[in-house]
Amino acid sequence: MLDFSFFMPTEILHGPEVVKRHAKRLKEFGRKALLVTGRNSARRSGAQEDVTAALEHCGIAYEVFDQVENNPTLENIAEGGRAARQFAPDFVIGIGGGSPLDAAKAIAVLAVNSFGPEKLYDGDYTNRPLPVVAVPTTAGTGSEVTQYSILTLTNKQTKAGFGDRSLFPRLAFLDYRYTESLELEVTRNTAVDALSHLIEAYLSRRAGDFSDILVEAGLRLWSRALPDLKSAAFSSGMRDSLLAASTFGGMAIAHTGTTVVHALGYPLTYFHDIPHGRANGLLLAEYLRYNLQHAKSRVGKILKTLNLKDIGEFKELMRFLLPCDLRLTAEQISEYGIAASRTKNASHTLGEVSSQTCIDILQSSLG
Ligand SMILES: [Fe+2]
Repeated sequence: MLDFSFFMPTEILHGPEVVKRHAKRLKEFGRKALLVTGRNSARRSGAQEDVTAALEHCGIAYEVFDQVENNPTLENIAEGGRAARQFAPDFVIGIGGGSPLDAAKAIAVLAVNSFGPEKLYDGDYTNRPLPVVAVPTTAGTGSEVTQYSILTLTNKQTKAGFGDRSLFPRLAFLDYRYTESLELEVTRNTAVDALSHLIEAYLSRRAGDFSDILVEAGLRLWSRALPDLKSAAFSSGMRDSLLAASTFGGMAIAHTGTTVVHALGYPLTYFHDIPHGRANGLLLAEYLRYNLQHAKSRVGKILKTLNLKDIGEFKELMRFLLPCDLRLTAEQISEYGIAASRTKNASHTLGEVSSQTCIDILQSSLG
């Protein structure tokens, strides 16, 4: 018997100048908007200018909270929550990469619930979060189409996410032009985050027919972008393909969640300051190798779509795109591996993921 569900309430508008062309749509969400963004990427990309012009065109009042840090902490989110409660907007617009978009979702909850940010993890909020509109300026996170928000927990020394159906953005404006100002390293790191979402969703216990369709389409787009991503001749076509691939990856993990790759990547970001996508990319080859015992044909399909002959060639590609000389000590490998094996992400991984499994992946990747 077939037994499945599929929920994707985010409306996606993808194309050049999509904010300008569909500015009127913002009126649906009210008369006051809080823009949530980081300190400069939204401005540099041109996205903030387009959004504020659209708001002005529609007569929507707005304020800007542009204090979102990279990998925002709960304290940073609480600050945004206070700004939101003071301004009392009708909706929130997140502009930026994963950090501002995830922050926008958390702030949309805190804007109408006066509890502390640690309660975000409990879900089932008393007051329904404000609607969120997402405008990504990187091609990687997929946060514009997920119910997740990943924040940094300093007391637990890691990043951890929460998710709630009410947190799916209502509208996502996808314009590749906003990703054109990204420098080489950020372009590659974020592109590999998108790849990681696609691969993890495909090799997840929760994979299903719908998520598979999204992954296969996303991998084809990613593969189309790969020659430019390697040569660093970043064309508009590459930017557009990566942005769409990232959104397909986001829709896929909205259903499957991520796996042990993300769980193992978080301590690399927290303790070693390795950007999120890069952290995942350093682990992906060994994750594919681990999966040979559980889903050999799926691993083969991923490699084939990427035009790679084997896992060795995949590892070479990651090394080329993400040069990194990080090496972990035996103590670090053991500590991070044990912590990762206890996460929910690990439970989505195929097979039985023990602390030894995690330690082995880390050892082969970064030992
Ligand atoms: Fe990710």
